[in-house]
Amino acid sequence: MKARGEKIAMLTAYDYPFARIMDQAGIDVILVGDSAGSVVAGYDNTLPVTMEEMLYHSRAVARGVSQALIVADMPFMSYQVDLAEARRNAGRLIKEGGAHAVKLEGGVHVAETIRTIVAMDVPVVAHIGLTPQSVHRMGGYRVQGREEAQANQLLADARSVADAGACAVVLEGIPATLARVITAELLIPTIGIGAGVDCDGQVLVIHDILGLCEKYSPKFVKRFADVSGTIRQGIDDYIREVKEGDFPGPEHSF
Ligand code: KIV
Repeated sequence: MKARGEKIAMLTAYDYPFARIMDQAGIDVILVGDSAGSVVAGYDNTLPVTMEEMLYHSRAVARGVSQALIVADMPFMSYQVDLAEARRNAGRLIKEGGAHAVKLEGGVHVAETIRTIVAMDVPVVAHIGLTPQSVHRMGGYRVQGREEAQANQLLADARSVADAGACAVVLEGIPATLARVITAELLIPTIGIGAGVDCDGQVLVIHDILGLCEKYSPKFVKRFADVSGTIRQGIDDYIREVKEGDFPGPEHSF
């Protein structure tokens, strides 16, 4: 798609119904993101998410998908300790989770991890820039690569993950100008989130674009629908009809 100049559309999903709707809509890539920790489980960040939780979400998504490429996130502490553990956990996401590829965060310092997972024929999507699993090092969710030294480091990270065999790289929270340079240089596709329009594709969290998560709304999110309002209306109507004895009607009874 990069070679054809065709943009790649990617969204997160964590369960069967959302995955099925996205797949039927023709989404190119579904990311079973560890953002599940924030938008599904209600944690403050992605750090508490476990392998078992990612496997549960990934299996549910895989059951709803027949076309899209499924990428599953490797959660914090599933690939950092040693290479053997990284390989085992990547393999589990494919074998037990039904994913086609895994994603992990980091640049130069995870190149060896990417190389070892790719060597067992598991495609790896890299993720550099604002990497949510590094929230404490970054001191919050801040745009990365504004200063020259940081921008050079990100360029080195991008080259390093591509050299290690990553099949794509997510660029999160970096200046659009830097994302354009990285995209032009790399042969693998770049998928942007808060990285401007010149990336080869875009990814957003489904709860953010549908207005399902009101906790925070970063500048890079565009709300494409207000599903919270529709859900609230349905629940209000249900409560009212139960209280007033209007539901169930004869058509819902045996
Ligand atoms: O976990 C996630 O949803 C992600 C995207 C925001 C890129 O990593």
